[in-house]
Amino acid sequence: MKLKSSTPSCMSRTAWNDLEGVSMPKDFITTQEWDLNDLKDLIKLAFDMKTHRLSSKYDESLKKKTLVLIFFNPSTRTRISFEVAMHELGGHSIFMPADKMWIGSQSESIKDTAKVISRYADVIAIRIFPNVTKWKLGASHSILTEFAKWADVPVINLEDDMFHPCQGLADMMTIKELKHSFKGKKLTLSWAYHPKPLPLSVPNSVLLNATRFGLDVMVTHPPDFDLSPDVIKQARENAIKSGGRLEFTTSLSEGYSDSDIIYAKSWGSLKYYGNPKEEKKIRQPHRQEWICNKKLIALSKPDSIFMHCLPVRRNVVVTDGVLDDPTHSKIYLQAENRLHLQKALLFHLLIEMRF
Ligand code: CP
Repeated sequence: MKLKSSTPSCMSRTAWNDLEGVSMPKDFITTQEWDLNDLKDLIKLAFDMKTHRLSSKYDESLKKKTLVLIFFNPSTRTRISFEVAMHELGGHSIFMPADKMWIGSQSESIKDTAKVISRYADVIAIRIFPNVTKWKLGASHSILTEFAKWADVPVINLEDDMFHPCQGLADMMTIKELKHSFKGKKLTLSWAYHPKPLPLSVPNSVLLNATRFGLDVMVTHPPDFDLSPDVIKQARENAIKSGGRLEFTTSLSEGYSDSDIIYAKSWGSLKYYGNPKEEKKIRQPHRQEWICNKKLIALSKPDSIFMHCLPVRRNVVVTDGVLDDPTHSKIYLQAENRLHLQKALLFHLLIEMRF
């Protein structure tokens, strides 16, 4: 799909990595552009929202506030958790599948769409995967940032082709809840086989957040499945600043051994990005070996936690034995924390920042 841009190209208002250290942007497009202390405050607020979920502390705090959710792609967690978040805070949400909007049929520009919705709603949230922009790396992210450029209200990224900031930050909340601190904890971000090439948004966001919060990160993947050099460069800078570590290996045993947090995820190879036929030839051979199973988890610490953002293809990406083992698997808590974190984000953008 070619969306109608209002500017000569779909370039973002500014490159995502030019914004490091800028405090309190109006939008939530990446976590990297937010100040680290503000992200920590959001997590604190999310824990308070979680504690007070059944009390009236935050009731009606978003009264008369409206969230418009634009989805170019399917969702279970993101859509439902945002709708519940608005409901629990006394606000309202409107779900808009992009194919039911003029923008989805290419006839209305991003500028006009963003300006008009800003006259009705208090916050706009958008999901746009790489298939919408024909797997041109960064093109979906550019559309999202163009929305943010024209919108007069905050824009939240519900996952584009580069980043999934709500997932990335909620994952830090889950680690904090279960491991209490980040320092000295080893997080293994492990590639896993999946029958189709998947976006890099989740691994990018986990990597950037984990290095920023000071975890010792070990990324393990088969050769030719490296994450993008720009993201790795930023992650290295994050690790230096936070005092954490960042290492890469193509060995599963090295990756999993002595780990405190196992984060399994599949992603497509950048070598053949947008060329699924060629990409399949280098992904298929890893089908047997790169599945997260109990044998691999046994290499991690006895009290390690297993994480996956979901949805997951059971017994393809991760075995039932891992997913259903309550000692390690924290996938449902991880999904639940999306709600608390997003409530905190909405409250922060609309009340604390008074948008
Ligand atoms: N993890 C996540 O974003 O899930 P959905 O695709 O179901 O929203």
